[in-house]
Amino acid sequence: MAYEHLIDLNDLSVSKWNEIISLALKIKKNESVYSEACKNKILATLFYEPSTRTQMSFQTAMLRLGGQIIGFDNPQNSSVSKGENLTDTIRIVSGYADILAMRHPLEGAAKAAALYAECPVINAGDGGHLHPTQTLTDLVTLQSEKGSLSGLTVGLCGDLKYGRTVHSLIKALSMYPDNRFILISTKELSIPQYIKDWMNSHNCPYRECYSLAEAIPELDVLYMTRIQKERFASEEEYRQQKNVYILDMQKLFSAKQDLCILHPLPRVDEIDLNVDKDPRAMYFKQAVNGVYARMALIITLLNAREQTSLLSHHN
Ligand code: CP
Repeated sequence: MAYEHLIDLNDLSVSKWNEIISLALKIKKNESVYSEACKNKILATLFYEPSTRTQMSFQTAMLRLGGQIIGFDNPQNSSVSKGENLTDTIRIVSGYADILAMRHPLEGAAKAAALYAECPVINAGDGGHLHPTQTLTDLVTLQSEKGSLSGLTVGLCGDLKYGRTVHSLIKALSMYPDNRFILISTKELSIPQYIKDWMNSHNCPYRECYSLAEAIPELDVLYMTRIQKERFASEEEYRQQKNVYILDMQKLFSAKQDLCILHPLPRVDEIDLNVDKDPRAMYFKQAVNGVYARMALIITLLNAREQTSLLSHHN
């Protein structure tokens, strides 16, 4: 049966994103109304890579919707350690659960999983490729804090090469009118060509720049990212890149008063701890919004699954 999955946010229409975002904000306002929305449903979380926020916010989301959870956060404690391949694991677990969220180090793994699953699959991050539920979280936060997803100058800073959250967010925000990007990185960690091609084909203006201090006064949104040690081939390459960008109160001095500072987290040292106290720091609120974004997504995909099942019964 063909289920509606979430592998790449751009597989869904912008109007569908807007529906999910407004459902997330409705849930945030009145969560108790949804406390049995997924009663008797099971979410499986299969995490082949470490996670705090994504895994726990998915689990929290399902529990707050009245559903239940199964899964693993370390494949070494599952039959993956005995050599079971991804597709067999997916076939089996999707027979136990109603919906499945998977994180995997290989780009394209979630797409492959969706081909074999007997339930909707959500990409919870595939290597350096995409992280669509982080992007939904980011969009919910921007809608809530800036009141709009259009007309924004967005600076993205740090690891733009391997940063899957960055790639997903640019692809999403370029679908809304009048956004522009300032891409702040070293040459080694600059944005991949396919994302530049995407921005060009969607007539979305961007400029690449090395200096965070130079870019900061122009920004409505600053999306900081971690330099991801785990994505480098050698310790030496990582050492050359870490500590290049650190957001501190001195740099924020020239920023707009209504700047929205986001970070998908975890943070290492790219945001000074003093910034946490600044009202423009939204990254902890952003992490909380991840629960509402995922609650809205789970409801949406499970409703779509029910519609698909009803149609197949009629045919
Ligand atoms: N933002 C994010 O994906 O965090 P985790 O790696 O902790 O899930």
